[in-house]
Amino acid sequence: MRDHFCGLIDETLIGQTVTLCGWADVARNMGGLVFIDLRDHEGIVQIVAEPSSAEGNAEVLAVAAQIGYEDALRITGVVRRRESVNNKIRTGQVEVVALRIEVLNKAEPLPFHHHENPGEDIRLKYRYLDLRAPEMQRKMRTRTRLVANLRRYLDERGFQDIETPILTKATPEGARDFLVPARMHPGEFYALPQSPQLFKQILMMAGFDRYYQIARCFRDEALRADRQLEFTQLDMEFAWVDEKAVQDMVEDMIRVVFKETIGVELDATFPRMTYAEAMRRYGSDKPDLRIALEFVDVAELVKGSEFKVFTDAANDVDGRVVALRIPGGAALSRKQIDEYAAHAAKFGAKGLAYVKLDESGAVNSPIAKFFADDAFKALLEAIGLKNGDIAFFGAGAYKTVSDFMGALRLKAGKDFDLVATGWAPLWITDFPMFEWDDEEQRYVALHHPFTAPAVDSIDDLRTNAKTAVSRGYDMVLNGNEIGGGSIRIHNSKMQSAVFELLGIGAEEAEGKFGFLLDALKYGAPPHGGIAFGIDRIAALMAGSESIRDVIAFPKTTSAQCLMTGAPSEVPDKQLAEVHIQVREEKK
Ligand code: AMO
Ligand code: AMP
Repeated sequence: MRDHFCGLIDETLIGQTVTLCGWADVARNMGGLVFIDLRDHEGIVQIVAEPSSAEGNAEVLAVAAQIGYEDALRITGVVRRRESVNNKIRTGQVEVVALRIEVLNKAEPLPFHHHENPGEDIRLKYRYLDLRAPEMQRKMRTRTRLVANLRRYLDERGFQDIETPILTKATPEGARDFLVPARMHPGEFYALPQSPQLFKQILMMAGFDRYYQIARCFRDEALRADRQLEFTQLDMEFAWVDEKAVQDMVEDMIRVVFKETIGVELDATFPRMTYAEAMRRYGSDKPDLRIALEFVDVAELVKGSEFKVFTDAANDVDGRVVALRIPGGAALSRKQIDEYAAHAAKFGAKGLAYVKLDESGAVNSPIAKFFADDAFKALLEAIGLKNGDIAFFGAGAYKTVSDFMGALRLKAGKDFDLVATGWAPLWITDFPMFEWDDEEQRYVALHHPFTAPAVDSIDDLRTNAKTAVSRGYDMVLNGNEIGGGSIRIHNSKMQSAVFELLGIGAEEAEGKFGFLLDALKYGAPPHGGIAFGIDRIAALMAGSESIRDVIAFPKTTSAQCLMTGAPSEVPDKQLAEVHIQVREEKK
């Protein structure tokens, strides 16, 4: 149908006749002269329909005059140099004088045009129109290139791409499972994989040495800008490795694909930081190191005050009192401070004390009254508070304070323009093995239950469960967790002990993971791996705030596909076939 792409017409084609297909991005009727911006996946070229020129004719002009937004067109014309050059587009030096215009499919009035932003719901409902936008095409192409570059890197290094089942048994990664009723086995269910974790481990036991898969994962969890119900991992596993081998290898891979995909040179070695240090300094296990703000722990300095909230936290071994200084923050109004407090409250803060030092050095603080003058002075000095600054304080349980002060750090970084440009990758290591779940009154795995503990023996782990660290690691980039992995348990007894500590009894472990416990018994090699969030990396590379931009057909935050209308009810007959009866009242 065509012999060239619109977006690739250039000066080398001047004088030639070309046939193009594309959409009418815009048509401007100047009366006696029509300009059409013809758009395809490569970009836009200007078409001119004019009666007067030697190449043009009146019939073409008549057709052109009727063209509307997004009509599907086929145009033959002659390329010529453009009089008024448009440097904003790649084809801006040239235009095509139309000899023939065919309307292949007239578009009805559009629900919206990609030149405007009608809001995400409309965009997702008419996703095919949304994706036509050059910006969306660019983002999706970035993703394609990322995946192609990853594959090439791994193929060249002998990794084997192996598919693992989608209809499978639940592997816990901390989310709810999606279940699929098994028609042939009434009352039984497959689970969609939260990740290929157990299969890839078994592949190492099966002698494959180095595996990867671009794997779709399914997790029934709350959706956010960086989370979808189904998402894509670059899943990897290596036999006969320790953590350094895995980290070095994948760090190189990430550097190479950043260079190849978007031309960015990342640090030659990524810094490593323990989980404890990251929480202490930034209140996050995925700190955005582009923001120079850091916490100051002040428990010792507030112990002598009369503010009970502070002294209680300071005297509690599981408590914490921290300050976050924001340079220039004294400019915040009372109302803005309240907004910060409201933001902190979303992350568990019960209040947000502050000290403001205005430009003249005058103190404004609701907590000054609780301190002796000297003690207050010492406190401000420790925080490094200068005229024009504000410091926020968080006091309470260690994790809660870290969470809400960490959230404030991010907000302040954005609000005060303190986010440096560039890329800040790092590794987070030495995660706690277990976290105590108050609700369930038991330990839960911080990574997943197959992560090896950094201990000498099973006894050691049992005795020190509360403080044990794991051999897990995360890769963080600009405040996003882009990958997570670990060295795995390769000993059946250790695996059973970890299940037991997680409150999974022997019988339950046998039922759920018997195949793994068995496989570990027959000479399982030491092994480890990692999985990267392809959607997250693609979004970062494309400069998108949300992974929805780099997923062709994403779900909304209320877990729906607005285009197809999924999820939806199914006929009773279909339910009966899979032995399902709906309990709840239908909506
Ligand atoms: P983890 O659960 O950390 O590890 O997942 C690996 C990476 O996948 C991305 N990710 C997500 N992206 C979009 N939406 C989601 N809902 C979502 N959840 C996770 C993140 C994350 O770093 N089996 C282990 C890996 C291993 O141990 O090798 C696992 O799945 O970028
Ligand atoms: P009050 O004297 O009760 O008004 O509290 C003094 C200040 O401490 C107020 O600005 C509260 O927002 C703040 N505050 C209360 N609880 C906490 C907390 N857990 N962490 C930090 N600040 C708090």
